[in-house]
Amino acid sequence: MKLVIFLTLFALSQVLGESDLNNRTFPDGFKFGAATASYQIEGAWNLDGKGVQLWDWYTHTYPDRIDEQDTGDVACDSYHKWREDIELLKALGVNHYRLSISWSRLLPNGTVNNINPKGIEYYKNIFKTLRENNIEPLVTLYHWDLPITLHEIGGWTNPLIAEYFAEYARVCFREFGEYVKTWITINEPQSTCWGGYAAGAKAPGYSLDWEGLYLCAYVHVLAHAKAYHVYDEEFRSSQNGRISIVIDSPWAEPASNSSVDIAAAQQEREFVLGIYANPIFRGNWPQIVIDNIATRSKLEGFARSRLPQFTQEEIDFINGTADFFGLNTYGTGLITLQNKVDEDIGTPSYSLDKGTSSTVDPSWPSDVPWVHQVPWGFRKLLKYVYEQYGHPEIIVTENGWADKSGTLNDVDRISYVSQYLSALLDAYYEDGVNVAGYTVWSLLDNFEWTNGYTQKLGIVQVDFNSDNRTRTPKDSYHWYQKVIQTKCLVENCV
Ligand code: NOJ
Repeated sequence: MKLVIFLTLFALSQVLGESDLNNRTFPDGFKFGAATASYQIEGAWNLDGKGVQLWDWYTHTYPDRIDEQDTGDVACDSYHKWREDIELLKALGVNHYRLSISWSRLLPNGTVNNINPKGIEYYKNIFKTLRENNIEPLVTLYHWDLPITLHEIGGWTNPLIAEYFAEYARVCFREFGEYVKTWITINEPQSTCWGGYAAGAKAPGYSLDWEGLYLCAYVHVLAHAKAYHVYDEEFRSSQNGRISIVIDSPWAEPASNSSVDIAAAQQEREFVLGIYANPIFRGNWPQIVIDNIATRSKLEGFARSRLPQFTQEEIDFINGTADFFGLNTYGTGLITLQNKVDEDIGTPSYSLDKGTSSTVDPSWPSDVPWVHQVPWGFRKLLKYVYEQYGHPEIIVTENGWADKSGTLNDVDRISYVSQYLSALLDAYYEDGVNVAGYTVWSLLDNFEWTNGYTQKLGIVQVDFNSDNRTRTPKDSYHWYQKVIQTKCLVENCV
């Protein structure tokens, strides 16, 4: 068996042209990891006291909105098979495992007056076992599974959700803080606010455009900051952990060298990444976001800017609430100017406020519409985030390749991840970016939201047709294992 794996890896290294890869050793202390999220892997949607959450409701109410009408009711069945998942992580050799807590498994109604002991027990067992195996948990408090009771009062458009979130976070810090030293408040606000509240492409499926997006962004950063302060003030000194948020963004590359496209790309970055990162790492919304929306709102006849304003107190409360920068990224876009700030007045919209449009180069390798292999874009993004947001330590909390086949012989995934890790080394050694960790998405093939099980991102295959949800490591798993062991992407590093 070992010989077969060795020969496969050798053959792969020839196919992939290792000579393109950075041949420096990963820095001392660099952390390798793998990630999952509660709804995507756990299953057991209604077992042991768990409450209903947004995606249970969404998949059950609108089956046609999910590819092949699938749900996460069983998913990878990690509620029962978590020990096997940890064994896979152990054999892989990762330093950390990024996973999320299901809010409604812990607090079935979303509120702290009813804590589910079975939920506490489930996560405690996982954290204890990870500790026994010397794997650090990176724990996300919110990975899109909002308790349905809180969705019913407006979800991420209701500023009170921020209070509920902080209260839930307090329970997690209290119960699990002994084991968890790296906390992530919220996963990918951009995906939720754009997908869930503006474009209607993800749960809860609201097409509220700018109204949904700006309100959702406002409530997200407020909720994040409240949870940060709970940790900072009540737990940090006794638990000695760290806390931040995970922000997602592709790299925005100007489509041409023209000054117009260069400015447009920066505008895109501010409206996609900056809208979440700026309040937390610099204070307040990005200036161009404030200015564009104010200008257009006035021309459209609104009494005030359509962008919710932070009070000075809120700006100060939110600014600086991150101990590192958690970054999720999968692709790159080529950006051009779509409209000037005073053009196309009449239809208030996020897209017109942003004023840009994005395309991809058809030659970029890709198997699904939203992932493209553009490693140089990743390098530029790392450098940009580092310089724009005050030189934070960056942890890549998600990156990976999606394919439709789910093949075990996943050369394309190995190609993508090796190129991205190589670009990461370039950013570290050539550009001086303090990038301290990398987390592949995902450990397991899992429920890929509205794409159901039709898009696979795991380095371990899961057989969704077997009751056992049999796990089989793919070639990328063995390849990643070797990289972690050798701390090197090529045969011999310098
Ligand atoms: C974004 C999300 O955090 C994760 O849940 C999702 O599966 C991956 N990236 C891939 O889309």
